[in-house]
Amino acid sequence: MISIESVKTQYHTDIDNQVSIEEIEKKYLSRKGYIAQLFEEMKSISPEKKGAYGQEVNTLKKEIESYVSQHQHSQETPLRIHPIHIQDIQAEMGGMSPISWLMFRIQDIFSELGFSVATGPEIETEKYNFDALNIPDTHPARDIWDTMWIQDPLGVKSLLRTHTSPVQIHYMETHKAPLRIIAPGKVYRYEATDATHETVFHQVEGLMLDTQTSIATFKGVMHHFFSTLFKQDIKIRLRPSYFPFTEPSFEIDIWMDNTWLEIAGAGMVNRIVLKNAGITDADIQGFAFGVGIERLAMIAYGIDDVRLIHSADIRFTSQLGKITL
Ligand code: DAH
Repeated sequence: MISIESVKTQYHTDIDNQVSIEEIEKKYLSRKGYIAQLFEEMKSISPEKKGAYGQEVNTLKKEIESYVSQHQHSQETPLRIHPIHIQDIQAEMGGMSPISWLMFRIQDIFSELGFSVATGPEIETEKYNFDALNIPDTHPARDIWDTMWIQDPLGVKSLLRTHTSPVQIHYMETHKAPLRIIAPGKVYRYEATDATHETVFHQVEGLMLDTQTSIATFKGVMHHFFSTLFKQDIKIRLRPSYFPFTEPSFEIDIWMDNTWLEIAGAGMVNRIVLKNAGITDADIQGFAFGVGIERLAMIAYGIDDVRLIHSADIRFTSQLGKITL
């Protein structure tokens, strides 16, 4: 003989002990469970107490059923929310592009020498990209710069600048000498891409004009620049070359890994160029140079294919973010 009280007590103990829902269902609600047994007991209850007894068993039955149905629902859909901590997140991080990094670094080094940063448009006219730089239409040297021409409805011959040298002209037209600038930026060439050529790449242009600026000044500035950048004394050499906008013109080589590496074009600014940009003072002279940043990055980081630099491949960029010169 079991009593309602004892079943109630048992039920509450089971709940406190977190007995599983299946177990509760089986133990109390099944055909041979406690509730069924309590109903069985009805037979032996005196007629005048049967009503109250039946009601009490029913109330208990409903309570257990509702408990089971509520908790069954939460078990059927095992939605577990796993707390995520910040250290669990292992997102792959890229790094700053070596090109941006080098351009910022170059700006830092030159700004300490009193150079400011100048910019110019990437869509240029023939005048700034060529003519003012002493490269007229008929000049064979134009072939050095494979040009991407832009069709211009107004008849102005426009192009994507092939070098950062036109920034020199823009700056000289709007500023008086003495002046010192560097001009970092993108340039475009109509060329097939391979391990050492890209159609879009970056240059940093330099220009310094003053009354005393000589080739010796230039060599000193370049030596300081490369030695500061590579954090070691870098031997440099000027080799005779040809550019229409400089006279004399040089290639700058740096001594690295037991060999001379060609790193920049340069020279003393051609008087014709000064005149084209409105500088007629005979006392003013100076140097200009142009460094290819992709080439510099390839040397600095030991990269053998320029296409990797612009690939945005995270396996590549994530390494470079960590390696600074
Ligand atoms: N503009 C030249 C090029 O793209 C590089 C250059 C050479 C720039 C000599 C200069 C310079 O300022 O003086 O090949």
